[in-house]
Amino acid sequence: NNHDMSDIDMMPDMEGMGPAVKETPFTTPLRFPETVTGSAQLTAKSGTEAILPGKNARVLGYRNGILGPTLRVQSGSEVTFRFSNNLSEDSNIHWHGLLVPAEMDGHPAQVVRAGESFPYTFRINQAASTAWYHPHPHEKTARQAYLGLAGMIIVETPTERALNLPSGSYELPLIIQDKRLDGTGSPQYTPTMQDVMMGFMGETITVNGVGGAFHPVATRMYRMRVVNGSNGRIYNLALSNEAPFWVIGTDGGLLPTPEAVTALLLSPGERADLLVDFSKLPVGTELYLKSNTFPGASAQGKQAFNILKFRVDKAETDSFQMPASLATITTLSTAAVAKSRSFSIGMNMGNMNMGNMKGMHTINGKVYSMDRIDETVKLGDTEIWDFDNKGDEPHPMHLHSTFFQVLSRVGGRNTLFANEKGWKDTVLVMPGERVRVICRFDKPGLFVAHCHNLEHEDDGMMLNFRVS
Ligand code: C2O
Ligand code: CU
Repeated sequence: NNHDMSDIDMMPDMEGMGPAVKETPFTTPLRFPETVTGSAQLTAKSGTEAILPGKNARVLGYRNGILGPTLRVQSGSEVTFRFSNNLSEDSNIHWHGLLVPAEMDGHPAQVVRAGESFPYTFRINQAASTAWYHPHPHEKTARQAYLGLAGMIIVETPTERALNLPSGSYELPLIIQDKRLDGTGSPQYTPTMQDVMMGFMGETITVNGVGGAFHPVATRMYRMRVVNGSNGRIYNLALSNEAPFWVIGTDGGLLPTPEAVTALLLSPGERADLLVDFSKLPVGTELYLKSNTFPGASAQGKQAFNILKFRVDKAETDSFQMPASLATITTLSTAAVAKSRSFSIGMNMGNMNMGNMKGMHTINGKVYSMDRIDETVKLGDTEIWDFDNKGDEPHPMHLHSTFFQVLSRVGGRNTLFANEKGWKDTVLVMPGERVRVICRFDKPGLFVAHCHNLEHEDDGMMLNFRVS
């Protein structure tokens, strides 16, 4: 019982923006989840958090409040993250940005049942980077992540430490999300059809689970590790004084050199490692990290809003020297490509069924099936994956098991973004764009690739690939 195009008129306004962002006064001190170095116990459970001041929101988290601890791991070390599922439904953990064996990757088929535990054990062996973790159970990822299950991972190496980038209180882990809060200040997850189309967006922007946050800074260079942990919202990060800042790293680690920008698009799942210079600002200056408008995505980017307020509170002398180079990145050669695959991503209107509003978001016209292997890749092969977006919605495409390099963008933003000069695991494909990435598959086993708009993912915009 598929419906024809005339039914589309019955759908909510697809050109709408979703809920407009409502800025709350930026008066609540920014909070940081505790940092755990090495192994950790992570228990998914419900708890409370004052997302807005004075309101005890009901949330999920891997601690007593929202989100989970920041995990600091050393490349070369073996870690165990014992996961206990205290929810009343299946969950698991995907280590987004860690290169782990397939059986530790949190594939949707590897769930941990309610009340059970699982030790995720692996050796970290990769460049210094900013990663994150979140649940990945089939069709439950969006809700669990939205209600608070997510956390940051920082991978450290001696090589990176030698660069003397800002650290300690000059290094800020920032998980940016948007929440739709009810009268009690609690996040609600009740997606309508329009939310499934555009991604579930909220009116309250949170940083580390705090709405309307401010953070006092000294006259120094700061390192900000930013995770876009939102289900569907893209941010065009900028500073309210329009000053340049430096992108030093992206999903897979540091860039070859610092890239000065005045704005940076960050889609759900992506990370940005930034340097922001407060050293020349007079004490008393107030400055916002904000999101600028941006073109090209029908339903997003039409509103500018503030995210986080900084106030320069303290004069300090800063001896920081901007490194001329950050990391060596070996370019994957197209001469080595064994196979090219092309994926058409977006809506399959033929799948639309008003009785059951599922399965509209597809890859190559297909809705995800846990039982189907969509692609088979030879272990060790280098491949080109081409994502072709002919629809109206942006899609941040994410591959498990490997990092990739962006080769080209056709039909949209024809210049590569600063953060695409490094290793990526999530890449934004705007409406009308065709984005081509190159990667090598070095981990055997079953993995997924999917859109990181979590409503799209849960709706079926995901595939299984087996590497062997
Ligand atoms: Cu961050 Cu498969 O996801
Ligand atoms: Cu999508």
